[in-house]
Parts: sequence; structure tokens; C-alpha cells
Amino acid sequence: MSNPSVHITGIGGYLPERIMTNADLEKMVDTTDEWIAERTGIRQRHIIAEDQMTSDLAVEAAKIALADAGITIDEIDALIVATTTPDLIFPSTATVVQSKLGGKDFPAWDIQAVCSGFVYGLAQAEGMMRGGMFKRVLLIGAESMSRIVDWTDRGTCILFGDGAGAVVLEAGESDDANGLIGSVLHADGSYRDLLKAHHPHAPMTPEMHHEPVDFRIDSAGAAAVEMKGNEVFRVAVTKLGSVVNEILAKHELKDSDIDWLVPHQANIRIIQATAKKLKMDLNRVALTVEKHGNTSSASVPMALNDLYVSGRLEKGQLILLEAFAGGFAWGANLLRWSK
Ligand SMILES: CC(C)(COP(=O)(O)OP(=O)(O)OC[C@H]1O[C@@H](n2cnc3c(N)ncnc32)[C@H](O)[C@@H]1OP(=O)(O)O)[C@@H](O)C(=O)NCCC(=O)NCCS
Repeated sequence: MSNPSVHITGIGGYLPERIMTNADLEKMVDTTDEWIAERTGIRQRHIIAEDQMTSDLAVEAAKIALADAGITIDEIDALIVATTTPDLIFPSTATVVQSKLGGKDFPAWDIQAVCSGFVYGLAQAEGMMRGGMFKRVLLIGAESMSRIVDWTDRGTCILFGDGAGAVVLEAGESDDANGLIGSVLHADGSYRDLLKAHHPHAPMTPEMHHEPVDFRIDSAGAAAVEMKGNEVFRVAVTKLGSVVNEILAKHELKDSDIDWLVPHQANIRIIQATAKKLKMDLNRVALTVEKHGNTSSASVPMALNDLYVSGRLEKGQLILLEAFAGGFAWGANLLRWSK
């Protein structure tokens, strides 16, 4: 018996209510709307409410995706949450989401590949489903990045936002050419110091507790995002340019075959560079960076959802997803839309 195909049969996105504009940031750090918009393409981002957790954003996106697929949580076989801002160190945010959705007795776990979490998760779920392990998987990218940025650091706090995106994946007939086609994943940990956030409970040994710490902390005393922005930018453009070529070559497809590029929404200039590499006009690129900022693992599913809810996706269209993240960890997925 050949392997089943894997399809996105439900999709949803959720953004917390509060919007923080660049004008709001002008009052907090030495920056301007003009600088942020010109260098990043970002005009606003959504910020999680005080009484919300990452799992709450994930639950809202998941409910929409389940309703869109026309199924209930009881019909799900596995739940994966990609997040770098979990509710707790343990248990996993996925188990919290499972419980909040009223699900029981199916495996639930988190994956951590920062902004590439959803792209990694899609590859992982597809492999497990093609192997016959699960028939229906709920995959969510959810983040509250605003909780781990240093709101006094103008080089990083302007970039990030909060949100969640979710998809229901279902196994289909083995001869169906639509659905997920394949993925390419990479990581190179030698770049780890260019973009990172220390563990909130570092240092690691009892003796080290007495040593001074030299990492960045936010105003509440928690570890916060540290980044060498221009170096990250340079590597991101290069690696994304090569990974999109790699995945197309692997599946014997050409630039001109792609109907939609759904990139990680970190910076409009990085997105433009990848689109240029693929000779794609920006009107064939999902763009949410202006309104969402960088929502890490939530950015790709929310961008795909944006295309879906605006009615721009058609059955059979070829979609290329890509992301670049701290680590560095990067990758791409190809799929034919089958809804
Ligand atoms: C962060 C980023 C927007 C900065 O843009 P840049 O063009 O590289 O700018 P630089 O960091 O070289 O800084 C240029 C100047 O702007 C200043 N600057 C930085 N942030 C600023 C802000 N928010 N407002 C005004 N000025 C700012 C810097 O202090 C520097 O000033 P100087 O020349 O007087 O030293 C850009 O590097 C970037 O997007 N990098 C990738 C980040 C990313 O995608 N991370 C996530 C990957 S998943």
C-alpha cells in the first residue's frame, strides 16, 4: 500500500485585540514611524493581554481551524504547538492547549525552532502522517513575543508582535497529487549568538548562581531577545535564497510554477529579496508584516490564513512556504492547495 497524501483541511488565525503602532513606540524608545516602516515594512503589531497566555492565542486559532475543517477536537489524533514563548517550561504548551480545547488521550507536544517552528512542524507532521502514524493532526504556531523583548531596546522591540495560526492536517488518498509535496530543513548552530534569548532561569549550576550575568534583561528582570540585526539580515537573505532554489530543484519545479510565496514575516526587505530571487511580483506574495510585525512561529500560518480568508487561494495552486530563525534554523515547504 502506498503512502497517504496529506492536506490542509482547516485553517485559522488569531490576533490579540491590542494594537501597538509605530507612533506608540515613538513614545517608548528613540525611533520614528518613518525609520521602522522604511527598514522593516512594519507599521503596527498586536500585543497579548495581561490575562492571556500563548496557549490562549493558540486555542482561539485552533477553534477556527477545527470549525473550518468541520471536525471537533475529539477527531484529532495528535497536536503539535510550535512556540518559542511557551506558557511554562513544562508541561508543553500543546498539552495546555489540548486541555483547554477539551481534548483527551492523544499525543501533544511542542517543537522549538523559533520563527521556523511552523515550517519544521509541517515537515514533521507530514512525515508522521505519510508513515501512517496519524490521520488528523492539529498544528499550531503561537507566540507572545512581546513577553520576551526588551522594551528599552529600539533595535529589537520594534520588530515583534503576538498571534497564532493553526492548521488541521488530514490524510487523503495516496494517488491525490494535491496537498503537501515536501520540505527542506536546515540548521547551523554556529550562528547561535547572533539571535537569542537566555533561559529565564539561567545560570545552569548552583555555583554559577553567584556569578554576575551579562545577558540582556527586560524591564521586569526577565531574559530578553538579543540580536545582531544587520548580520542576521545578511545571512537570512542568503540562506532563504538558497533554500527556495533547493526545494524547487528537489521536486523538479521552476520559479514560474509557484502561484504563492508565503514567507516568514520578519522584514519586508528580506521578503523582497526572496521574491526577487524567485522572479515573483509582490502581488503573488502573502504580506502581513506591515500589520502583524514578526510573530515568530505564528507568522507563516497567519500569512497563509490571510490569503485564505481573503479568497485568493484556489484549488491546485502551488504554494511555497519559507522561514528563517534563530539558531540559525531555516527551511521551506511546498504544497498544492486542496481545499
Ligand atoms: C533590525 C533591522 C531592522 C535594523 O536595520 P539595519 O538597517 O540593519 O540597521 P542597523 O542595525 O545597521 O542600524 C543602523 C542605525 O540605525 C539605528 N537604529 C536601530 N534601531 C533603530 C530604531 N528602531 N529607530 C531608529 N534608529 C534605529 C542604529 O542604532 C544604527 O545607528 P548608528 O548608525 O548611529 O549606529 C535589520 O537589521 C533587520 O531587520 N534584521 C533582521 C532581523 C530579523 O529578521 N530578525 C528575525 C529573524 S527571524
